[in-house]
Amino acid sequence: MHTRYATISIFILLISSTHAVFTRRPHPYLSAANQFMAPQNAARASLRIRPLVWDANLARYAQSYCNQRRYDCDLKHSNGPYGENIFWGSGSGWSPAQAAAAWVSERKWYDYWSNSCAEDQECGHYTQIVWNSTERIGCARVDCFRGRGVFMSCNYDPPGNYIGEKPY
Ligand SMILES: *[C@@H]1O[C@H](CO)[C@@H](O)[C@H](O)[C@H]1NC(C)=O
Repeated sequence: MHTRYATISIFILLISSTHAVFTRRPHPYLSAANQFMAPQNAARASLRIRPLVWDANLARYAQSYCNQRRYDCDLKHSNGPYGENIFWGSGSGWSPAQAAAAWVSERKWYDYWSNSCAEDQECGHYTQIVWNSTERIGCARVDCFRGRGVFMSCNYDPPGNYIGEKPY
């Protein structure tokens, strides 16, 4: 009954041939933590779901996992005890705000009444973000070696995306 969705294996792949336009962070005045959180808590607020709170332990977990991925930048999950959204972007300059906005943008694929994503679309990053019983978040970002791109990860506790349960 408490089986979680295979969102463990879902990911977002953003390949931009024009990544140079993103070399300036859109919100230089926001800390990385706030960049990660703002779009996600805005999505929750629009559903009247209480905000996620930044958690230093989750952030350390995410950073340690990002550091492991630094060599290959592969879109692999850590398979830990937390919910996890991961992001990869080619080139450099991808900001935490962009990763969070990309996940939130899956909202258009989620249908609440059938509790499912549109055919052939991902919405599991979004459903983790708006999972009502998730309370804490911690995220990290790394520039991978040898120009392999940027890897970012957010971890969520308690985790969401349980099969057969609605997020809210
Ligand atoms: C969401 O969580 C809050 C706080 O735990 C709870 O009061 C509320 O009933 C929950 N809403 C839903 C739809 O489950």
